[in-house]
Amino acid sequence: MFDNVPNVRQRFTKVKADQEKSSLIADEMFLAHSHAVILALDQAIGLLDDPTKLKMKMTTLVKMHVHQNPPIGSEYFEPFASSSHTFAMVILGLPEDHPEVQAWVKFLYAFRNMVKAEEDALGGEAATEKARTCCTIL
Ligand code: HEM
Repeated sequence: MFDNVPNVRQRFTKVKADQEKSSLIADEMFLAHSHAVILALDQAIGLLDDPTKLKMKMTTLVKMHVHQNPPIGSEYFEPFASSSHTFAMVILGLPEDHPEVQAWVKFLYAFRNMVKAEEDALGGEAATEKARTCCTIL
């Protein structure tokens, strides 16, 4: 994601994201953040058969990003979703039309759509105002 989504590295404050890959993967904060992301994905996967709870979980994740100041919004989640087939293919070692790759792509577009809806619901100044009251991450 750091190499494929424009301007992502500078959005990270606690993780020092401007490091080379070799030092990044040994960085305690980066590893803590990576574990938190993987845990969130694992929890979402565990809720696939419970749409109500899945929506609650995804809403929390969406707000965690969109309510930051300035918001982490669709300008990041759009390119992330549109590169997701490449990530899934490389990580899983599967072809693009494999159902598992397709499922990840769909999931990340659904995430992007929820981010967009939250941005629209907040709108302009309200976003900045609400961002101040939300979420201490890490
Ligand atoms: C699969 C998609 C994603 C998931 C599941 C996810 C999950 C998370 C979680 C769980 C946290 C909180 C970590 C903690 O507990 O402290 C977090 C923080 C954060 N996320 Fe995401 N995220 C995703 C995509 C993105 C994208 C596309 C960006 C683009 C900039 C992003 C930027 C951030 C930033 C900046 C933080 C705060 C960390 C810091 O300030 O160093 N995330 N994310």
